[in-house]
Amino acid sequence: MIEFNAVTEATAPGKIILFGEHAVVYGRPAIAAPISQLRAKATITYSSSNNCYIVAPDLNRHDRLQDLPPDDALALAARQVLDAAHIAQPPDVTIYVSSQIPIASGMGSGAAIAAAIIRALAKHLRRADLQTNEMVSALTYEVEKIHHGTPSGIDNTVVAYEQPIWFVRQSPQNQIEPFTVATPLRFVVADTGVRSSTKVAVGDVRGQYEAQPAQFTEIFDACGRIAQTARAAIEAGDVVQVGQLMTENHAWLQQMTVSSPELDRLVAAALNAGALGAKLSGAGRGGNMIALVANDEMETAVRAALHQAGAKSILTTILT
Ligand code: MEV
Repeated sequence: MIEFNAVTEATAPGKIILFGEHAVVYGRPAIAAPISQLRAKATITYSSSNNCYIVAPDLNRHDRLQDLPPDDALALAARQVLDAAHIAQPPDVTIYVSSQIPIASGMGSGAAIAAAIIRALAKHLRRADLQTNEMVSALTYEVEKIHHGTPSGIDNTVVAYEQPIWFVRQSPQNQIEPFTVATPLRFVVADTGVRSSTKVAVGDVRGQYEAQPAQFTEIFDACGRIAQTARAAIEAGDVVQVGQLMTENHAWLQQMTVSSPELDRLVAAALNAGALGAKLSGAGRGGNMIALVANDEMETAVRAALHQAGAKSILTTILT
C-alpha cells in the first residue's frame, strides 16, 4: 500500500543568468541566480476519475497522463518521479500547474514548471529521497533535454537549489558552488516581449561553433574569463566592476549572434540612463535583459528608460 498526502503543493522560482550563458554549454563557468518573486506552482489533489490528470490552464492543457507522448515535458516530469519511485500505475490525482514566469523568455519557465511538478509529486508520495535539491535538479535536467537539446544543466540547478550559483559543466559531476555576495546587487530585469526558443538559439551557436571552431573557442574563453573575474568582483563587493563585466559579456553574446535589435535597444537604453552594466540574460534572440543599478535614483531612471525603449514588463530583483 503506497502512502501519500491529501493535497500537496510545491513551487520553484524563475532564474536569470548573470554571466556565461551559451559558453557554459561548452564547459566554461557561468553564474546564475533565482528570481524568487516569479514562481511556477504544482498542486496535487485526489481525482475521483481513476486517472492521473495534468491540468495547466495557462497552457491550455487538460490531459490524462497515459495519453501524453514520451516527449511531453509536463508528462515527463511526472513520469520521472513515478519511475524513480518504482510506481508502474500512476496514482489517481490531478496535477494542477500554473506559472508566473513568462514562457520562452530566458527566465527558466520550463525548468521551474518541471521542478515544481517533480517536487510536488515526490512530496505527495512522501519520498524524501526524491525531494532533495540534487534529485530535483537531476530529474528536471531530463525534462530540460526536451526544451533545449543539449542543456548545460545550469537552469535546472539554479531553480532546484534556489540560490545564486557558480556552475561549470563537467564530467563526472558538474561543479556547483554557492558563493558570497559581499554587497547586494540590484538588477532591473526587462522583457523584450519577443518569445524565443532556447533550443534554436543553442543549436545555432553549435552550428557556428562547428563552422568556425577557433573563433568560437576564443569567444567562449573570453566569456569564461569574464565569469571568473565577475565571481571575484561579486565576492569582493566591487559593484562597478560587476557592471562593466556584464556589458563586456553582452558584446561577446552579440558576436555569438544571440542578441537581437530589441535586446540591444534595451541594453543601450539602460546604459544611457546610467546603469552600471547591462546584458541579455539566458538564451537570447528575445526574452529578457538585465541591468545592474546602484541605488533608488538609478533604478528609477533605468526603469523609465527601459519603458521608453519598449520593454514589455520590468521587475527588480536584489541578489544578496
Ligand atoms: C539558458 O538559460 C542558458 C544557455 O546557456 C543554455 C544552457 O546552458 O543550457 C543558453
